[in-house]
Amino acid sequence: MAERRDVLRWGLAGTLGVALPGAAAVLSSRRTTGRSPAGRPGPVPTATSSGPPVEAFTDPLPIPAVLRPVSTTDGVDRYEIRQVEARQRIRPDAETAIWGYEGTFPGPTIEVRSGRPVAMTHHNELPAPTVVHLHGAVVAADHDGYPSDFVLPAGGGWDTDSGVAAHAAHSVAGVATGSRTYRYPNEQPATTLWYHDHRMDFSGPQQYRGLAGFYLIRDEVEDALPLPRDAREIPLMIADRAFDPDGALFYPSTDPTLHEPGVAVEFHHSGVLGDTISVNGVAWPSCEVDAALYRLRIVNASNARQYQLALDPPPPGGSGFIQIGSDLGLLPRPVRHDTFLITPGERYDVLVDFAAYSPGTEVRLRNTIGEGPTGYVMRFDVARRVTDEARVPEALVPDPEPPPATGPADRSFSFFSGPELTGLPPTINLQTFDASRIDARPALDTTEIWNLTADPSHPVHLHLAHFRVVGRDGGPPAAQDAGWKDTVFIPEGGVQVAVRFAGYRGRYVFHCHNLEHADSGMMANLEVQ
Ligand code: C2O
Ligand code: CU
Ligand code: CU
Repeated sequence: MAERRDVLRWGLAGTLGVALPGAAAVLSSRRTTGRSPAGRPGPVPTATSSGPPVEAFTDPLPIPAVLRPVSTTDGVDRYEIRQVEARQRIRPDAETAIWGYEGTFPGPTIEVRSGRPVAMTHHNELPAPTVVHLHGAVVAADHDGYPSDFVLPAGGGWDTDSGVAAHAAHSVAGVATGSRTYRYPNEQPATTLWYHDHRMDFSGPQQYRGLAGFYLIRDEVEDALPLPRDAREIPLMIADRAFDPDGALFYPSTDPTLHEPGVAVEFHHSGVLGDTISVNGVAWPSCEVDAALYRLRIVNASNARQYQLALDPPPPGGSGFIQIGSDLGLLPRPVRHDTFLITPGERYDVLVDFAAYSPGTEVRLRNTIGEGPTGYVMRFDVARRVTDEARVPEALVPDPEPPPATGPADRSFSFFSGPELTGLPPTINLQTFDASRIDARPALDTTEIWNLTADPSHPVHLHLAHFRVVGRDGGPPAAQDAGWKDTVFIPEGGVQVAVRFAGYRGRYVFHCHNLEHADSGMMANLEVQ
């Protein structure tokens, strides 16, 4: 058996030493070069760790604990979640202060049955207002986590905060103190959702500190399929981070107490990318796997970084990823990929057949658009041959109604962050977010064609409404656009989506899921009439 250790080491020495562009005068020493969020070569500032180098593939991949309901009476599963400060070993050599749901990053996984309602009570024991949003869920507007539906800290002290006061007037559910109960009907098919912080102007720093977790919906259709289960079904939450020398998280907030919004100017254009890739809260973990079929539910929970994922080495014959699900449930048929792009907020549900590798093989999950260490995500170590009942189904769920043919758009939105260093905020149709302005008023139970364009490129997310990609870059959708989605990567050439407005009337947001873009105004209101 080949014994080869992959050790990636870096630090300042590993990432600097690259020529800075002429405009570097306004940039701090933390600027390095990399790839732009669009995946095109070009300078992009990266939050750079200033501590000792991290040894990759040393700590094992943790699986977030599944939270138990405190009660299941009256047909509702009730959960209690404390939002607290805690310490966690993200890097092998340090304890890092985090903000976590139940004190962990990612928070505990919520597992529910489709059609079975959940009441989730969040207690804010943090030193800042929070908002919880269940990304991808169809929920009533007053339980969706509208960004100004604050839950003020139980400890008090924020009632007079000027930002809270200014935003509270435009909340949907009002401002609560200490705790709030969110009601989720779960009337949607089996899928991978995730819950995360959505505080107005501060979703970037607050998710970065650790406020994100998995929320899995299961149903009978999925149960009946011969998919990998239990230990062979692995949720992977990918998130990049950077560290100070003492192991603390480094995020370039202009006000680390999170009273005043904003990040250092060099991060305005591309958002905050870290130089350290974590999966399930551990930097570059490794995971021992059987030579068997696995199901990986992958969430990109990074603030701004996108990943072009590939297996290295690829399995003989290629097509290492067998995609079975999109953001919002199983596909009619698996779609095979050698590689796919996952942008912030998106989920990909894929099978990987580690039986195609001989035991002893170390399979790295690569990010082929990442430079240096950010080109690696984690490693799977194929351990042993086993008997395996799981297989790749030829068909998964019935074909959905075909989406309407593309045609004239009902609405068009351009996501523009403009040339770098102009000092202009990112906008949608050249406007920054205004909570009192409604940007789209679709009617309940209709489908609309939305034309989404971007400059340079943005991952766009709609609350409540699910859509299908019907056109990309002036052509047909790409293979990885299959299925129902709530978040989609908009390249400069644009994307057309057929959006279904169903479930509830009310005011929701849609926004760029580059969190620094959203926090600085790349967000809009949609009100379902
Ligand atoms: Cu995952 Cu409005 O966000
Ligand atoms: Cu959402
Ligand atoms: Cu954006």
